[in-house]
Amino acid sequence: MKKLTFLLLALVATVAAQAKDFIISTNNSSLMLTAMEGEALKVRYYGDKITMQDFDGTPKAWMDAYPVFGTSYNYPSCLQLQHSDGNQTLALEYKNMTEQQTADGKIYRIEMQDKIYPVSVIVCYQTHDAQDIIETWTEITNNEKKEIILNHYDSGFMPIRRGDVWTSHLHGTWADETRVTTEKVEMGGMYIANTDGARNAHTTHPELMISLDGKPQENSGRCIGAVLCWNGNYKLRMETTDQDYHLFFAGIDDFASQYHLDKGKTFTTPKLAFTYSDKGLGGVSRNIHKWARKGMIAHGDRKRDILLNSWEGVYFNINEEGMAGMMKDIASLGGELFVMDDGWFGDKYQRNDDCTTLGDWVVDKKKLPHGIEGLLEQSKKAGVKFGIWIEPEFTNTKSELFEKHPDWVLTAGGRPLQYGRGGTQVLLDMTNPKVQDFAFKVVDDLFGNFPDLYYIKWDANTPMENYGSPYLPKDRQSNLYVDYVLGLEKVFKRVREKYPDKVIQACGSGGGRTNYGAMPYFDEFWVSDNTDALQRVFIQWGTSYFYPAISMGQHVSTSPNHNTGRNIPIKFRFDVASSGRLGMEMQPKEMNKEEFEFAKKAIQEYKGIRETVQFGDQYRLVSPYDNPDLASLMYVSEGKDKAVFFAYKLRSFKIQRFPLVRMAGLDENAMYKIREINVVNEKRRSYLDGKTVSGRVLMNTGIELKFDDYDEFASRVFELIKQ
Ligand code: GLA
Repeated sequence: MKKLTFLLLALVATVAAQAKDFIISTNNSSLMLTAMEGEALKVRYYGDKITMQDFDGTPKAWMDAYPVFGTSYNYPSCLQLQHSDGNQTLALEYKNMTEQQTADGKIYRIEMQDKIYPVSVIVCYQTHDAQDIIETWTEITNNEKKEIILNHYDSGFMPIRRGDVWTSHLHGTWADETRVTTEKVEMGGMYIANTDGARNAHTTHPELMISLDGKPQENSGRCIGAVLCWNGNYKLRMETTDQDYHLFFAGIDDFASQYHLDKGKTFTTPKLAFTYSDKGLGGVSRNIHKWARKGMIAHGDRKRDILLNSWEGVYFNINEEGMAGMMKDIASLGGELFVMDDGWFGDKYQRNDDCTTLGDWVVDKKKLPHGIEGLLEQSKKAGVKFGIWIEPEFTNTKSELFEKHPDWVLTAGGRPLQYGRGGTQVLLDMTNPKVQDFAFKVVDDLFGNFPDLYYIKWDANTPMENYGSPYLPKDRQSNLYVDYVLGLEKVFKRVREKYPDKVIQACGSGGGRTNYGAMPYFDEFWVSDNTDALQRVFIQWGTSYFYPAISMGQHVSTSPNHNTGRNIPIKFRFDVASSGRLGMEMQPKEMNKEEFEFAKKAIQEYKGIRETVQFGDQYRLVSPYDNPDLASLMYVSEGKDKAVFFAYKLRSFKIQRFPLVRMAGLDENAMYKIREINVVNEKRRSYLDGKTVSGRVLMNTGIELKFDDYDEFASRVFELIKQ
């Protein structure tokens, strides 16, 4: 251990505190900065890779890399704070810089000090070279004699040269998450913010695409991606005034969040990751997907299991026989994991709907007389792994937990409680270490007492409605939004330290917790409660802007769909779910014989394409946002030796004309043998099935899809193998 520390220290090189232009590069991108004595750190350029030779010829933004408020021309800033004497301003000067090698890049720490006050601001950059990602964050240290108040504290800033600049971002609502919105950046300002408090990704997302060469294109044009890694409230802003640059800022939302920082303490802002690509939105997505798989998400290199979740199949109607039946069914379909969703717990109060019992995490012996042990035995018999649903940060007012600890619940002072889901759900005060211990214990009891328990679905079904913490002191109430997230993160960390191998899904009433702040602690996200395969094409399309297929739980559910009432054939439902982490969420017994047999075959086929989907590069080919009739995407393995192609006919018209779809990402000089999978009607097999076609033709000429007019929701899936 000592040796290792020594080695790490030796790798940290301090650079002299004199004027220095320097370039932080990844394999294909560069960020140019200048650190000069007596001045704040400047950002000069971000984009295509450059070297010191290019330095003089490169257009220079020459702006503060982390603008602070109060002593310069009043452009928008990243940081505004109140010193202990009431002064509201900052004026930073560069002190020193360290550089440290990591496994896949470098960490640069550039220290600045206020010119008068003992407040230091270290701006950090970390590169992930192969993924072309540069993360930035800031460490703000209060060395004053009393507390200071951070009024506004962004993670980072990026000047974007004005021109025909467009943004694309995700928005939506429960059961309609991650719709793509695209808009031109104009004068004035735009922002994306979320103040849910507990989940942050239903209505907006803390990520942004910035296309620099006009209307966003999928596979061409320069594009910058930005991802804020934070599991709480945020604000992403683009401000344009009289300068040559649009000013992009991102960080924790300062709304009702003036953060009191004790003397001697450091506040670390969440990471903000940037990536740059000249291959359009798709290039940025692929960089972000790789970064997610290679370091952000838990077990990014591990194949995901095919599962059945009980929710839409039985809802709260949990019992031993029913669970055992579902385990057998998913096993005989070829699945690998069964997850028992909500409704399994409670002693004094039974959980038969969403109005009671959250917090009472003991097995309901009336429903499950042999407890979790019994279910684990059944799962062993069936030959599948077993997982369970929890929601540890919440309680219902009708619960033993609430009766025992009413003071563990967030309350707006003496005001009556506002209730969330079920009219009784409230949020526990995660700023309280005792509540953190409780939440940890919920997980620890399950994984500790039942070592064979393989998977947990961690849900969050109510926003922060009662703004006030019984735990935080009166003068620290405005720390709540932030301290809630930090308290929760502590629990996530403890869970992962003790149970590094377990699989954990993040869910927040569907896609409410799909964010990069939660990602390191979770294996996957439940991206929406809406399992309607048509709407799902749109939801998954949007989610894939920033999230890799391996992180997206996608479940085949029953028809008509419970959310939309739409009837969709089983093939289309499987073909849509198979483009991510395939699962099912229905009562398998309700399938007829043909459907059951189809499901079995489709699961078998998925096992063959799983690695390409889960670890491959994604290419979005035909957008459902631009084409009302068709959506298409594909995955290509790293060595370009395998690929999987998906196409979905989204609506049916007489005499419908489809474009030739041009594939992408293949080796144009290679020949690929094509096999159509999940075929239902042999007569309609594609003309491509069994053919060997060059990558050049597949990508440059494109393929004919040919659907029959009367096939509503038709789809095609091709497996391609390089010969
Ligand atoms: C949330 C989740 C669903 C399901 C229910 C259970 O809505 O998003 O998938 O787990 O809770 O109550």
